[in-house]
Amino acid sequence: MAWIYIEDAGRHVGEKVTLKGWVQRLRSSGKIKFLIARDGTGVMQCVIAKQDSEQAFQEADALTQESSVIVEGVVRKEERAPGGFELTVSRLQAVSIAENYPITPKEHGVDFLLRNRHLWLRSSRQHAVLRIRAEVMKACRDYLDGLGFIEVSAPIFTPSASEGTTTLFETKYFDETAYLSQSGQLYNEAAAMAFGRVYCFGPTFRAEKSKTRRHLTEFWMLEPEMAYADLETVFEVSEGLVTAVVERVLERRVRELEVLGRDVSLLERVTPPFGRMSYDEAVERLRAGGFDIEWGRDLGAEEETFLSESFEKPTFIHDYPAEAKSFYMEPTPGGDKTVRCTDLIAPEGVGEIIGGSERISDLALLEKRIDDHGLPRGAFEWYLDLRRYGSVPHAGFGLGLERTVAWICGIKHIREAIPFPRTIYRVYP
Ligand code: 4AD
Ligand code: MG
Repeated sequence: MAWIYIEDAGRHVGEKVTLKGWVQRLRSSGKIKFLIARDGTGVMQCVIAKQDSEQAFQEADALTQESSVIVEGVVRKEERAPGGFELTVSRLQAVSIAENYPITPKEHGVDFLLRNRHLWLRSSRQHAVLRIRAEVMKACRDYLDGLGFIEVSAPIFTPSASEGTTTLFETKYFDETAYLSQSGQLYNEAAAMAFGRVYCFGPTFRAEKSKTRRHLTEFWMLEPEMAYADLETVFEVSEGLVTAVVERVLERRVRELEVLGRDVSLLERVTPPFGRMSYDEAVERLRAGGFDIEWGRDLGAEEETFLSESFEKPTFIHDYPAEAKSFYMEPTPGGDKTVRCTDLIAPEGVGEIIGGSERISDLALLEKRIDDHGLPRGAFEWYLDLRRYGSVPHAGFGLGLERTVAWICGIKHIREAIPFPRTIYRVYP
């Protein structure tokens, strides 16, 4: 008998099939039992009637929440059932009877749920978020691959910082010290000089000592890098990417967005062109809104939240003060204090989801910046080589996967946007 996945049930109406899954709920009313089974692709109501199968009816007695089961029966169309189909059961086999399952339909505290993250993944909301995450990852790759980018993976063990020395994770590396990568950018720059347009997509690490709803210590970043490109290219590619990703989720993850109760009309507004605003303008707006912000400082979470609440669409803030940003950014032509960089701020109070910039291509200037930032020149010799051998204007950006997923899903905290979140106080499970 054919084993099918629940998501394919619509193609098997009237057929006898096998489902392999787990018990989400079981309810009994006299001579009928309703088993809500899930198999990772969906949920299906399985109707167990004594008259159809004495065996199944008996076997069902032992089932508990999250017991694993193999169910045989005929698929029928049933508008009222979750998913639109149900199974008339003819045989049931308990594979493993679950012990008392800790996560029940009642409310649990977040700390409890995080300690049980390995089980919490099975819950419908978490399941929906992570299906959307997978769709976002695929959409990112499809979009960039479609433009002709090559995926070149960056290393995790690195000899130096790229995004400031205060958030570095240090690790013993035999007789040396290594650092976990904060960003694949510097390696991407080397790859861009070899392949033209590249991206890396992998975990990055920051020893974030603050506990906020938008910081993880381990998060995933998608980083495109382009040779012969400037900040305009960053605007174009990132706008196209974010639009394509949102479109894809709206198209393929309707059910998951529904489970999350997401207001999709807010996502449907995500169309080009996105807004653009200089740092100077942002500071003016913030001051008008009552923020006491000094020119020269990077924008903080509260400030980004304030700004993003007034946006309908994602908005680029660009040309930040050099002193607020990383060492490798190209100065704004004609302006001596700002650099050609941009942060993309998502609407609905979400804040920054992308950070990007044009990179310094001049050797002497880059050497000076490395020294000014107190970075060890020796660890950057290879990076300086990229300016010694055929240097060209180039640019790129990094999209924070979990922040993007949290925004699309409409969830407040990014810890739910990654399967196993790592934060300052949590490395378990
Ligand atoms: O703005 P960031 O620090 O930019 C870079 O690392 C560049 N080197 C990227 C590049 O140009 N290739 O980080 C990029 C994005 C942020 O906009 C944010 O979405 C995410 O990474 N991010 C975090 N996400 C979760 N937790 C954290 N601690 C994060 N730090 C940054
Ligand atoms: Mg940033």
